[in-house]
Amino acid sequence: MLKGKHIVIGITGGIAAYKIPYLIRALVREGAQVRVMMTPSARDFVTPLTLATLSRNDVIFHPFNPDTGTWNSHVELGRWADLMLFAPTTANTLAKMANGIADNFVVTSYLSAKCPVMIAPSMDLDMYQHPTTQKNIEVLRGFGNIILEAQVGELASGLSGKGRMEEPENIFQAISNFFFQQQDLTGKKVLVTAGPTYEKIDPVRFIGNHSSGLMGYSIAEEVAERGGEVILISGPVILHTDHPAIRRIDVTTAAEMHQACLDHIGETDILVMAAAVADYTPDHPASSKLKKKQEKMTLTLSPTHDILKELGMNKKTGQLFVGFALETDDVLMNAEKKLQNKFLDLIVVNSLNVPGAGFGTPTNQVTILSSSGRTVTGELKPKREVATDIVNEILLFFNTTQTL
Ligand code: CTP
Repeated sequence: MLKGKHIVIGITGGIAAYKIPYLIRALVREGAQVRVMMTPSARDFVTPLTLATLSRNDVIFHPFNPDTGTWNSHVELGRWADLMLFAPTTANTLAKMANGIADNFVVTSYLSAKCPVMIAPSMDLDMYQHPTTQKNIEVLRGFGNIILEAQVGELASGLSGKGRMEEPENIFQAISNFFFQQQDLTGKKVLVTAGPTYEKIDPVRFIGNHSSGLMGYSIAEEVAERGGEVILISGPVILHTDHPAIRRIDVTTAAEMHQACLDHIGETDILVMAAAVADYTPDHPASSKLKKKQEKMTLTLSPTHDILKELGMNKKTGQLFVGFALETDDVLMNAEKKLQNKFLDLIVVNSLNVPGAGFGTPTNQVTILSSSGRTVTGELKPKREVATDIVNEILLFFNTTQTL
């Protein structure tokens, strides 16, 4: 199942390092190619010879290997990896990763990773519970890293509590699930819209909104990583994406987003309309800057196209459409109405009343309603993880309704 997958394991100086050879053996047995890097203190807990023998590759400690005279490039390793796993990860390395302190090969490689990252913390219970450690874990989670939470049990100190590294067989399972999950959108064409639209008032002013685009971009990345082909129609945002399966089309106005959607909807299996499209646009945008005057000013606005509704009305058999709803009042009732009025299969509801959810935050808390009557409410979590939940719901919908 893991045939040809490139996995880099970064080992840091924790007692649980002695368990990593079991994990490497299981990964290699399943066909994965494994390369190991260690911090200097990790060598006190497990021998490089064991790791090199099991991984069938030299173990890397430094950028320069004086024995072979070769240069170990953290950038090259970062590009080679399909997945980087840091296990065990000490409090010290967690702090360095969270703050970009690149003073060893393991952390420089982390900062160079172009692939998903899993982190399995391991330390004594008080260190684990310390607000600094918890904050660093949250920071790393917020970057989109997958945290394999420490487990409760007997610790090397003789104390008992939360701090044990996740067991190697469970880490192996998480890695297998990760790669298996990636394949489930292969062959699907997915149109994702993201970000705000800007409606021009004059050359320097516009009507916009606070959407950062992060939710839509996270969905685009999730789909691409799970094998789908993405067209990402993006309003003006400061985000970047360089996944080869994502083709990004930049637009500014609701009218441009409308046209871009019409251009691509014919080739789309799944539409995810995460953009915050302006509902109104100024009737007569000024060609030169409007000058300040003492009297009141009135702008006349006209409705834009309701893109999703229009596309929903013309939905072809086999297409699956997902909308978003951002509500402040009667949240679920309004979302249910949108699900029906816009001919959607699923609607993702954000309530602006939940702190940390909605626009301009790295986290979100959503309820997903389906036209088949299913309702699921998630926890407040990083938008990258919410994206995973949304894609899982899309696939569940396919599997239960045989839409595709
Ligand atoms: N939407 C759209 N075109 C618009 C406005 C919204 O395609 N002109 C889409 C959004 O991308 C979202 C869904 O419709 O997926 C719901 O958007 P929302 O702003 O919550 O609702 P509206 O339909 O605009 O209604 P209201 O603002 O009255 O809540």
